Amino acid sequence: MKVVTSPEEIQILAQQYRSQGLLIGLVPTMGWFHEGHLSLMRRARQSVDRVIVSLFINPMQFGPGEDLDNYPYDLKRDCRLAEEVGVDIIFAPDKGSMYPEGFATTVSVSGLTSSLCGASRPGHFDGVTTVVAKLFNLTLPHLAVFGEKDFQQLAVIRRMVADLDFPIDIIGHPIVREKNGLAMSSRNTYLQKDEIPAALSLSLSITAVKNAIKNNSGQTITPADLKDIACQIVTEHPECEIDYIEIVDKTTLQVCTHLSEQSLLVMAVKINKRIRLIDNSLLMES
Ligand code: PAJ
Repeated sequence: MKVVTSPEEIQILAQQYRSQGLLIGLVPTMGWFHEGHLSLMRRARQSVDRVIVSLFINPMQFGPGEDLDNYPYDLKRDCRLAEEVGVDIIFAPDKGSMYPEGFATTVSVSGLTSSLCGASRPGHFDGVTTVVAKLFNLTLPHLAVFGEKDFQQLAVIRRMVADLDFPIDIIGHPIVREKNGLAMSSRNTYLQKDEIPAALSLSLSITAVKNAIKNNSGQTITPADLKDIACQIVTEHPECEIDYIEIVDKTTLQVCTHLSEQSLLVMAVKINKRIRLIDNSLLMES
């Protein structure tokens, strides 16, 4: 496995791969790999000849007071894990090479970014779409894999790719969870032991909502009732402050008035005002 830090070098390498007729897959990340990240890399490995994983803690997507300065980072550890799952290249540029002096362009998707995480993290998705557009242009992938854990990010990237005609197949990959149900996240490392029960209330509330649907055969129960069930379970924990809990259409992210196979329960909860966790699940999977 090769580590490339220079944007120019990765683009030349990607052009060489393409001229040899090789298929390229990209997995964009901010590092501190866990099974969630590794499952995306394995997914890419199945479909392409060269897997490129980008590792870049993108300052543009962090707001003031967020965890940019504390974000966990260990390149050696991550390289070892990526190599074990068959990654070919780690692209780990520094901030200065991605955003040199004079950088003045923002890629911004409107509409989809104004609610949910976009409402509580203004500018966040502009940072994500700008860096992902750059990563696409630098690594020239045929496909890119993103986790469904960040459901809004996935919807926004699909929109950007369609709107800007990127010839890239976007693959969404299911959420990987700990045995206890907690959705894996690099930010879970901030959790202290006594905060785990509060963190688990997110996945427990999803299970409770799914059970309520099963017990009502999906007919008599409304999205508003289901939202109440989830909110109740989360707010039993004084450490939890709900940012949002909603049932939305998985593509438009509009709040659902009735349940369908598109209905996605989505939530963001802050634990002890320090750790913002997100989770989601489709409610009526066929
Ligand atoms: P990061 O938080 O490092 O996540 C990288 C990718 O891993 C994302 O596509 C995310 O959805 C996926 N992922 C994280 N936890 C997961 C889990 N438990 N199961 C499945 N997939 C999971 O998301 C970002 O970085 C950045 O915003 C990025 C797209 C790299 C742009 O900077």
